[in-house]
Amino acid sequence: MDGQASQAADASINKAVIIVMDSTDRSRRARSASMAESVSAHVTMVPLHLITPIIHALTRDRLNGCPPKVQGWVSTVMNKRGDHMTGLITMDDLTNEAILEILDDAERLLPVARGDTYLPLLQGKILGNLFFEPSTRTRMSFETAMKRLGGDVVNLGDVKTSSVVKGETLYDTIQMVDGYTDIIAMRHPRQGAAQYAQDSARVPVLNGGDGAGHHPTQTMLDLFTIRQAHGSLEGLKVVLAGDLRYGRTVHSLSHALTRFGCELVLASPSLLRMPREILDDLTAHGAIVTETEDLLGSINEADVVYMTRIQKERFADEDEYTKVAGAYKLHANNLEGAKASMIIMHPLPRVDEIHPSVDGTRHARYFEQAFNGVVARMALLCRLLGVSVPADVPQGGEA
Ligand code: CP
Repeated sequence: MDGQASQAADASINKAVIIVMDSTDRSRRARSASMAESVSAHVTMVPLHLITPIIHALTRDRLNGCPPKVQGWVSTVMNKRGDHMTGLITMDDLTNEAILEILDDAERLLPVARGDTYLPLLQGKILGNLFFEPSTRTRMSFETAMKRLGGDVVNLGDVKTSSVVKGETLYDTIQMVDGYTDIIAMRHPRQGAAQYAQDSARVPVLNGGDGAGHHPTQTMLDLFTIRQAHGSLEGLKVVLAGDLRYGRTVHSLSHALTRFGCELVLASPSLLRMPREILDDLTAHGAIVTETEDLLGSINEADVVYMTRIQKERFADEDEYTKVAGAYKLHANNLEGAKASMIIMHPLPRVDEIHPSVDGTRHARYFEQAFNGVVARMALLCRLLGVSVPADVPQGGEA
């Protein structure tokens, strides 16, 4: 293409982007906005990736009038390997029906996660674990899930020993791992980085937490744990407590619970209230939401109390952290009036917000919750790799 034609094509793209911006849904726009915020040392923006989240939203019909160059770029974005889900970046990527199917798959995979049944559904597949931020549960449960299903894992390992320290961009890193693996699990400190990675990769990307943004695979194991305890997700009263401002787990979970008709009580210090745009999203989905600073006064009516850590690492100003550190400390004595069926959850790690006296109560569910990360991630890996989980998985031995 000569210079003049190229300029004309670029102008058309700008026009196409503006048209699409007018017609994309709210969550898609929000994601693009957070992606734009993710420009950092790890993220180098190039025109294709600036527009890919937006052109994802185009239907093929609308593309027919676009120049061939635009259509080619859209194909690059849309034609991931396989014709199954292209990734899991936020809970918007899953319908309620898909969520329930994945939870059912996870349920059937319990004997495999426990090591009682050998079921190599993912033999020959490789997961790339890219964790640019510390993790114990998410990284290890992804690895366990893949290995229990007969697959393999390659890890970026400690960022300090990777080529990231030589200045390699996230875009380039993703290009490499895309070639080495069949699927990527990624955690990154920048909100929007997972969407950026998905737009840069041909293999599916699972968002294992992007800054203060989203943590959808955590939400899937949280939903699994809630359904395991209560038999259903519908109509429950759920208290989300602690750092609702920066807590990506509660950002994703509140959205999902709302879609299943749960009533939410948001208990936080005023400095750590749920962000306004998320509250707006919840109410737009018909949520009944109460905000309060009184956690203890909310416990007796609750079916689920979901505690979170106040995350020192997210505060720009340490004085601000000091004001809210230790705001909530749940002790076994605080649970005397709770419903017998009420469960206490926590994505972990905890600091001091759940006293060890709670661990031995009938309510504590956080360690089972962490174990459930293996089955939830097994089911997600199968779904994203286009592998069906058999309807009847044996309770022991070889399947
Ligand atoms: N729940 C969770 O994300 O834990 P990790 O930070 O240990 O992965």
